[in-house]
Amino acid sequence: MCGIVGYVGKQAACGILLEGLKRLEYRGYDSAGLAIGAKDGLDVIKKVGRVENLIRAAAGVKETAHTGIAHTRWATHGRVTDINAHPHVSSDHKFALCHNGVIENYLAIKKFCENHGYTFQSETDTEALVNLIAYHYQKEPEAAGKNRFLTAVRKALLHVEGTYGIVALCADYPGEIVGARKGSPLVVGVGNGENMIASDISAFIGRTQNVIYLDDGQVVHLTAEDFDITTIADEAVDPVIAKVDWEIEQAELGHFTHYMAKEIFEQPVALENAIRGRFSDDQSTAKFGGLNIDPLQLRHVDRLLFCACGTAWHACLVAEYLIERFARIPVEVEYASEFRYRNAPLDKNTLVIVISQSGETIDTLEALREAKRKGFRTLAITNVVGSTIARETDGGIYQHAGPEIGVASTKAFTSQILLTAMMALYFGRLRDLSFTEGREMVEALRLVPGLTSQVLDQADKIKVIAKKYAQFEDFLFLGRQAMFPIALEGALKLKEISYIHAEGYPAAEMKHGPIALVSPECPSVFFAPRGEVLKKVISNIQEIRARKGPVICITSAPRDELPEDLANDIIRVPDAHEAVQPILFTIPIQLLAYYIACERNCDVDKPRNLAKSVTVE
Ligand code: F6R
Repeated sequence: MCGIVGYVGKQAACGILLEGLKRLEYRGYDSAGLAIGAKDGLDVIKKVGRVENLIRAAAGVKETAHTGIAHTRWATHGRVTDINAHPHVSSDHKFALCHNGVIENYLAIKKFCENHGYTFQSETDTEALVNLIAYHYQKEPEAAGKNRFLTAVRKALLHVEGTYGIVALCADYPGEIVGARKGSPLVVGVGNGENMIASDISAFIGRTQNVIYLDDGQVVHLTAEDFDITTIADEAVDPVIAKVDWEIEQAELGHFTHYMAKEIFEQPVALENAIRGRFSDDQSTAKFGGLNIDPLQLRHVDRLLFCACGTAWHACLVAEYLIERFARIPVEVEYASEFRYRNAPLDKNTLVIVISQSGETIDTLEALREAKRKGFRTLAITNVVGSTIARETDGGIYQHAGPEIGVASTKAFTSQILLTAMMALYFGRLRDLSFTEGREMVEALRLVPGLTSQVLDQADKIKVIAKKYAQFEDFLFLGRQAMFPIALEGALKLKEISYIHAEGYPAAEMKHGPIALVSPECPSVFFAPRGEVLKKVISNIQEIRARKGPVICITSAPRDELPEDLANDIIRVPDAHEAVQPILFTIPIQLLAYYIACERNCDVDKPRNLAKSVTVE
């Protein structure tokens, strides 16, 4: 949420910052700005709207500046205006600051700064911090061996309550950047004769693949040739340089119009990456390298608690069905934001598992931290290597789905489901799942990438269906058992990218209220997999049809098991193992939502009010 990028080196900073901002735009897109440091002071440009507006405004900016910081905003404090856009500048014009996060005691800081003669223009909490930095800079005399810019930032941060990922420039130190983090991600890109800093690596992946993930409470001082990391309390830190495992091409659109479409069609590869090397030699179970918990300890786990937000929370709900079914371990699923503030009694043998594509969602991160504080063992499923959740969990599983840039999560969701199915297999084999059942499941899971491709082959057909339904303003998504979370996901996908009101329900719950919504103007999307509840779902469809509700039915049932004229439109998915069905039924609802949004001319990759990676509570 909000993108930050900073550059110090020998190249012209402006173009590099703007390119970085374009890559970060999925993190926030209501306004953008940059500040560059030159010998004659700081130049700052800020514009409401997309980064394109800033690019236009920045034409003609000094090409001689080699240091700068930039920001793309998702508003938290203050309206969307040029003035509220970042970077913010101290009233003495000495400092420029980009900030992600929320400064909770900003009113007290603002008052303090005003009492010391600093003035304010914006409605943001960030302006309080940049003036506090300026105050400490003025107050602290030059100390031998100490960088006064760095000292001022550090001193100011000691007074901040809340969360931040910041980068700062100082007019007196034109070739230097100071960054710091507490609760909001920052990563340093270590280059050759240049260094960068950003809220995520996509900002600089084309320039360097050597990165240092900052931890909470750390401050970094960057010059073109060097970097130095310390704690806010000025203790030395031994930095670890990691190598990023993906290339810039993976974060580019290629021949696709939208990242969402690209990522939907990447699913066969993402799913292949999730299973690669993760089956036992005898092909009867799954194996994971990073769980950091031995099988004996796992046998003593008698309850799993899953925590996540949004789409990842839907993946947890699927996990609940699969793990209870195949491993017979009781599973609970909590919204991460609720778990954190709820004092839920948990058994000592509970294992807490969080799922997060970005690995940075603050609610999920805090749920993980709370579980650890209470002494529970934790696992995480994350896509972003080196993310905060990945670093703080006791053990984990990487998704290896490649960068997900579309704001609406797609490939990360199906890969999360696949990994929880493998978890169900692994935990099941440690308990009552037989060798033969294990082998059947491995065989079925290996087929997932190919079966997913078969569903994707129907994209044109789904596009035609989407066109037919694009003008409706209300939708219902209905499924039973493991298809219920897929119904929730279908409704969420449609809501977030096409702004159509949609609700997901367990199909049988209809009769307990929501059926009142059914009319010719409210289509229902049903999930009807072959299996024990097929007949019940067919009855639910008929209840809707009897009330003139249009029905789209996604099914894997053979034709002779379905009544003729069951639905207005039918999308067929291949029949597959129970553990695989949720993935295959997800693809049509992603495509349906995508094509409906395109039909309505919605900005698919930048839906209104949203941003990727939610790092504020
Ligand atoms: C919806 C969507 C969000 C995320 C949620 C959690 O399409 O993308 O609901 O799933 O914000 O994000 P992560 O998985 O990064 O923790």
